[in-house]
Amino acid sequence: MKSHSTIKVAVVGVGNCFAALYQGFAYYKKYANQEVPGLMFKDIGGYSPTDIEVVAAFDVDKRKVGKPIGEAIFAKPNCVRVFMPDVPAGPVVKMGPVLDGVSDHMLEQPEEEGFRIAKAKPVDVVKAIKDSGADILINYLPVGSQQATEFYAQAAIDADVAFLNCIPVFIASNPKWEKKFIKAGLPIVGDDMRSALGASILSQVMQELAFDRGFVVDFHQQINIGGNTDFNNMMVQSRLKSKKESKENVIRAQNDLRGIPVAKHSLFAGPSTYLPYLQDNKVAYFNLRLRGFGNAPVTIDAKLSVQDSENSAGVVIDAIRYLQVARELGIVGALRGPSAWTQKTPPEQMVYADAKAACEAFAKRQLPAVHAKRIKTRRSAKAETAKLVR
Ligand SMILES: NC(=O)c1ccc[n+]([C@@H]2O[C@H](COP(=O)([O-])OP(=O)(O)OC[C@H]3O[C@@H](n4cnc5c(N)ncnc54)[C@H](O)[C@@H]3O)[C@@H](O)[C@H]2O)c1
Repeated sequence: MKSHSTIKVAVVGVGNCFAALYQGFAYYKKYANQEVPGLMFKDIGGYSPTDIEVVAAFDVDKRKVGKPIGEAIFAKPNCVRVFMPDVPAGPVVKMGPVLDGVSDHMLEQPEEEGFRIAKAKPVDVVKAIKDSGADILINYLPVGSQQATEFYAQAAIDADVAFLNCIPVFIASNPKWEKKFIKAGLPIVGDDMRSALGASILSQVMQELAFDRGFVVDFHQQINIGGNTDFNNMMVQSRLKSKKESKENVIRAQNDLRGIPVAKHSLFAGPSTYLPYLQDNKVAYFNLRLRGFGNAPVTIDAKLSVQDSENSAGVVIDAIRYLQVARELGIVGALRGPSAWTQKTPPEQMVYADAKAACEAFAKRQLPAVHAKRIKTRRSAKAETAKLVR
């Protein structure tokens, strides 16, 4: 089924991930009639990736604010691979409030690698979102932006738009915040992108494989190194905490879903260090120690090397479309299947096959049978609201 309009999105944080996404919109438009890799679903509820339009963007860096998006995405400190240099200029990037988006550490970094705050006065964000006609607000702030993420989540509610939370500040998975979105009659997907073929999904399927084949997992380690701004920002231990928690949630969930306890010191997943020469190349090292038939030991050592930002853009192109379909179907609150499929810390973790099946149903505009009871429609949202005010 073909829908009639485009999906309009506004974006917070014109960093590497958004730079990959924005290039992707132009790339998949150019090759719309050819088989090109990188997309999981061509059609979601009648929407193709080329039906998405960026109508507003917010940032705080002086090299991005005041520039058209098409220029700002290639400004430093971004180091994303340029795979589509010819992109539309798009709207001019607006100044947002800085709040806790920029750490002292990032201000102290060399010009090429750190953030530099613009002198411009922040705009009225809610008004700017409303004026842009956006349907969805995407959050791409740096890890550790708790206040700034809460500010933009509230702005999405006040501007009556859906919210896609790509970062490890817990909003979709926080019942308090989910209730706010339910009350406002809006859908939300989050938290913290689970890239298309990244370390998290690989850790998940290795853990699932071990359990499904009757093995015990004694130890699962996933160490990540990278050279982009995200890795630089996470050199501050206090900011890193939520990312580590989110990454470990993916693996831990596979134990929880099967009632298998996670032994102390048997799990580590997180970013380890920032190596600028790697640029946007992220490398993950895995070490799994298992026991199988007759207690026989099995070891898995693996290495994954990816372009970090492009790897995340495919799931975002899908999550945008799930949110739009949800809006059209009148589904509110945190979308269970799409959040489990595209994010590391969804409100409800699922095994790979269930998350995929739930998304396939959504793509056909059907409520996934297994999880329908957990999805709140507008009618039940009213009941929920009534409960809230009582
Ligand atoms: N594969 C991936 O790269 C991946 C996967 C999962 C989650 N994430 C998360 O996505 C987020 C974005 O990643 P990235 O690589 O694009 O980061 P980035 O550091 O390249 O970009 C962050 C952008 O936010 C801007 N910013 C800082 N404070 C702001 C504020 N108050 N208002 C508006 N803009 C502000 C910065 O100037 C910068 O342009 C990070 O939190 C990251 O952890 C990334």
